[in-house]
Amino acid sequence: MSVIKQSFGTTGNGLPASLYVIDNGKSQISVTDYGATLVSVVVPDRNGVMADVALGFDSVTGYETSNYQGATVGPYCNRIAGGKFSIDGAEYDLVRNENGVTNLHSGGELTRRLWTAEVFSEDDMIRFSISREDSVNGYPGNMDLSVTYKLADSATVIITYGASADRKTFINLTNHSYFNLGGFDSGSIEGTLLKICADRFTPVDENSIPTGELLDVAGTPFDFTSLHAIGERINDENEQLALTGGYDHNYAIRYWDGSFREAAFACDPVSGRTLTVLTTLPGVQFYAGNFLKGTPGKDGKPMTRRSGFCLETQYYPDTPNHPDFPQCLYDENKTYSSVTSFCFGHLTD
Ligand code: BGC
Repeated sequence: MSVIKQSFGTTGNGLPASLYVIDNGKSQISVTDYGATLVSVVVPDRNGVMADVALGFDSVTGYETSNYQGATVGPYCNRIAGGKFSIDGAEYDLVRNENGVTNLHSGGELTRRLWTAEVFSEDDMIRFSISREDSVNGYPGNMDLSVTYKLADSATVIITYGASADRKTFINLTNHSYFNLGGFDSGSIEGTLLKICADRFTPVDENSIPTGELLDVAGTPFDFTSLHAIGERINDENEQLALTGGYDHNYAIRYWDGSFREAAFACDPVSGRTLTVLTTLPGVQFYAGNFLKGTPGKDGKPMTRRSGFCLETQYYPDTPNHPDFPQCLYDENKTYSSVTSFCFGHLTD
């Protein structure tokens, strides 16, 4: 068990970023205070060969213009239609940072800031905290947030979130890791097998905003109720796949009741590495990395289209504009909390 702090370079504004490496003798993760970001996850394959399965960068610089690799996203992750919502009759105008139309990932507010770190070496744990000011990018509420990363068992990353604001506001936090179970530089994730514990998903419009329907996955390329390779049907002729250039959709986790339950399972048949995702949240955005464009990442290796997949646990996208979705509107000083874990393992054959 150990937590080692090292330099992670300097931001464009001249601020030092740190990297915290947690090693429990069986696996190793690292996290940076910049964006409270999960930087690396080094885990064994079926032959004991270690690889880093998280896409990312070697220093803070890459994270300043990233596609949210490993980042904590909030106060509202994913999209808000037209960058607008109302609370008790008051309308809020958010920054429209996607094509001038949609608010995406709160404009990166929390992702592009340095958080304060507290190290709990005995527990293989780091807690990041930050305060945001009312109205940044249009979101209401001065808010205190914390994100805790703990490396548990042999290779389980437990992420615990907490937040509360001084005004009634929407809160929806996620981790935006891109995983490739063969290793960050092992190419396409289309061969990865995936299961998602959901019978329904939220179809989207041309701006990737949920239409409000919950569609059955049965009989569609969105059916991951049993294991399917990500690439098996990703290029099928399908209106929803065409709108988003591949999977980039929120799934409604089966039997959601706020308890900690399985959301998804992935397995790379080549290395044998597996990932089980558990969460207390009602949704998971399965994003197949369709918009990755070859930006150089770790070791200068390009992060090409579909070389990483994301399983972003969350409340559904655009919930503020869909009263029928599970709600995430928190009263003044009411605490938001959620837990998500990424549990890594391997096949034993
Ligand atoms: C979205 C993608 C987007 C990515 C990076 C994901 O949460 O669903 O559409 O490209 O984040 O911003």
